[in-house]
Order: sequence, then C-alpha cells, then structure tokens
Amino acid sequence: MEPFRFHLFVCTQQKPEGAPSCAAQGSLALLDDLDRAIEAHGLRGQVQLTTCGCMGLCEEGPVLVVYPEGVWYRRVQAADIPEIAARHLGQGQPVERLIWNDAAAMRALSAGHAEKFRAAAAARDRAGVLPERIEQMIRGYMPSRVILTALELDLFTAVGAGASAEGIAAKIGADSRAAAMLLNALVALGLLAKNNGIYTNTPEPARFFTQDSKDNQRDGLLHTADIWSRWSTLTEAVRRGSAVADRRARPPEWTRNFIAGMNRNAKSRAPLVVKTLGVEGVRRILDLGGGSGAYSIAFAQASPDLRCEILDLPEVTPLTSSYVSRAGVDAQVTVRAGDMLRDELGYGYDLVLLNAICHSFSEQQNRELFRRIRRALAPKGRLAVQDFILNPDKTGPVFAALFSLNMLVGTSGGASYSELEYSAWMKDAGFAEVRRYDLSGPSSLLAGQAA
Ligand SMILES: C[S@@+](CC[C@H](N)C(=O)[O-])C[C@H]1O[C@@H](n2cnc3c(N)ncnc32)[C@H](O)[C@@H]1O
Ligand code: FES
Repeated sequence: MEPFRFHLFVCTQQKPEGAPSCAAQGSLALLDDLDRAIEAHGLRGQVQLTTCGCMGLCEEGPVLVVYPEGVWYRRVQAADIPEIAARHLGQGQPVERLIWNDAAAMRALSAGHAEKFRAAAAARDRAGVLPERIEQMIRGYMPSRVILTALELDLFTAVGAGASAEGIAAKIGADSRAAAMLLNALVALGLLAKNNGIYTNTPEPARFFTQDSKDNQRDGLLHTADIWSRWSTLTEAVRRGSAVADRRARPPEWTRNFIAGMNRNAKSRAPLVVKTLGVEGVRRILDLGGGSGAYSIAFAQASPDLRCEILDLPEVTPLTSSYVSRAGVDAQVTVRAGDMLRDELGYGYDLVLLNAICHSFSEQQNRELFRRIRRALAPKGRLAVQDFILNPDKTGPVFAALFSLNMLVGTSGGASYSELEYSAWMKDAGFAEVRRYDLSGPSSLLAGQAA
C-alpha cells in the first residue's frame, strides 16, 4: 500500500557551470513553490515531495516525476506549479501539456547522457584533471569571502530597494569599478538581482542581511568575518601546534559581534536544550560562559521558579546583562563577571551548563573544570555539556572535525572532543551516569549526574 497518495520526485541535480542541469534551470525554486502549493491545497500528508539526482534528461529540465502513475513532466516552470497542484495532485488529472510520454526518446536521451558522462569522466581521468569535487573544495573560499566582504561593507543595506553600482559605492564608501565587480559576483551567486543596471536584494539577503529587517543577522555574521583572518594562519598554527598570536588589537565591536554570533546559534538551540534536560526538580542553574544568556533566558521562561546565574568574562557581562534585560527576565537571571577556570563557582546548583565552552579548553583544563563543577553541584545535580562531538576516531562528523581546526587557530589548547573523552572526564570527576542526547543540528548534549 502506498503511504502517500502521490510521491513527487524533483531533480535538483547541480552540474558544473555551463552544463545543462535541472538546478541551473530553476528546480530548487520549484521545490518551495510546490511545498507552498501542497499546503495551500490542503494536501499536506497526502503528497510526499522528494528531491532526487540526475535522471539523464538534463536538457529537458527541470524534470518532475509523479508516482504512483509514473507521469514525467519536463521543462516545468514556476507558473506551471499551481496547475500541477490543483489539477494533478488535487483532482488526479495530470497536466497533459507538460507530460513527456515519448518513452523511447526518454530512454535514448538518458542512455546517451550516461554514455557521454562515462566518456567525459574517462577523458578527464586520462588527462589527469583534478576532480571537480576537489576543485570546488579548494575554491570554496571565494563565495564565502564575497558574502563576508559584502556584509562588512553593509552592502545589502545600501542596495536597499534598488540602486546603481555608483549609488551603492557612494553609500558604502567604495570604489565604483570595484563595487560593480562585487555586485555582479553577488548577482552570479543569486544573492542580488540586476535589471537595467539597478541592483536589488533577493528575498533571503533582504531578510537576513539588511539593517531594517527584524531578522537581520549581520552582527552575528560579522563574527565569521572576524575569524576569517585566524583561518589564514592555519598552516602556521599546524606547524606550531597552537594559535598564532594576533598582534593587532581587537576592534571594539569584536566582542559585540562574537556574542551576537553566539546568540544566533544559541537562540535556536536553547528551546531544544530546555526540552531535552527538562525543568523538573531544577531550581538553580549555573550557566558558565553564558554569552548572550540565551540558554538561561530559555530556562527562566520555561519555569518561573527557576533562578539562573551566568558567569562570563568581564568584557562580555555588560552585553549579557543587556540581552537578559531585553528578554525581561532580570528577576530570575543574574549575571556575574569572572573566570570559570579560576574563580569560585558557588554551591548547591541543580544544573550546570557548559554550552559551546569545552572546545575552547585543553583536556587538562576541562578535567579540572569538571571536578570543580562536581563540587558546586547539589546532590544528584547534573552537568550538561553541549558541543560538537567527534566520533571515536575523530574523523567526523565533518563539522566537528573542521571546528576542531577553528579552535586550533583561535586558542592555545582547544579542540573538538569525542564522547569517549567527555564521558571519561565526567566519570573521573565523580559523575555516575552520563547520557548522550543528539539534538537536531551539529551539536550534541552530554549530561552527567553527580554520583
Ligand atoms: C563560544 S561562547 C558560548 C556562549 C554561550 N554558552 C552559548 O552557547 O551561546 C563561549 C563563552 O564563554 C566565555 N568564556 C570563555 N572563557 C571563559 C572563562 N575562562 N571564564 C568565563 N567565561 C569564559 C566567553 O566569553 C563566551 O561568552
Ligand atoms: S540534472 Fe535533472 S535530469 Fe539531469
């Protein structure tokens, strides 16, 4: 029995620039349109939408296949989606004008495509060409740098409702020839549109990168721009074994960007952490290195009886206090300036939080910190560590392995660690039971209960 009335496969294959593909012909945007149409026609739960790779019919893309009938649509455009949704998915009547039912031609095209693909791969191999997958990894810095520079220049805000290259260059204080090159690259990346020399933001940059938008994430993303320079020292850091000292003074906005960057992730993770750990029996929380206070704020909002203390470095706590005040939870959340590695932590906490902290410290520092936390906990109190946790041989997940290098270039002894390491440190510090919770996303939670 089919679990769904219809199952739609949309080819979203991307190919090297210049080669025809469904993605290059707009299939990714069709996905959103289809999803909205499914919702609008009340078909959620009846229609399953699945992306798929190349079906060998790339010149005729975007290709969309509907099962159980096995109807193949080709050259589907955004304007066709309402009709496909209403007629085919709503009334079970396929849209004849878009159907491709010349099976022999389809088979021939697909077989020819597979043959061409094999021949091209063999020719590249014979010629000793570097595989495209590796080329792309090597050039990965280019789009990243383009977006970060645009954010540093606050270019998306300057684009506003639409402006010329000269107008934008004047607003951001840039050379107009260079600004035009940057703007054109952003158009090529799909972040801007250009019509008759006028640039406009596409929907996502308009929402996430411009000053008047409530969802503006520019401050937090500027932290990524700040750590760009550290990554440039990776080669030297690998030779030396730890971060290369950055002799330039940090600009005053560095800490603000850093905490805004942390808040970007923490705001979306905090509800998951509260739900996973629960608030039952939790009266006092110590949030070490609480940053923007997002986790304490979420706990406080989940239970009016709960009290949280955030301990963070003196240069951060004024920012922490302003986040806490803005959330309106000053009565439940207090903020203390100090160094968690040296200063007294206090006593009698039911829960101690270490969110995105342990990766900054060496094994020895973490072991000592866990012992001190154990002494600060009430009987049966818990320590919760949230971090990017490596698999046992430390070769993945990819993000955790790359993040380890982020700590190599940024700290003297930090790294990503494995569950085995965290569990051993907790057990050695006197925690009886250590449980792992995989939150959706790149980080996991390990909670140990005081023995
Ligand atoms: C990566 S951020 C994480 C912030 C927050 N826990 C979160 O997940 O959003 C690390 C935080 O730890 C603070 N921190 C680093 N070393 C510290 C120390 N020795 N004592 C207190 N806080 C520290 C930093 O200032 C920063 O706010
Ligand atoms: S890229 Fe979609 S069929 Fe080939």
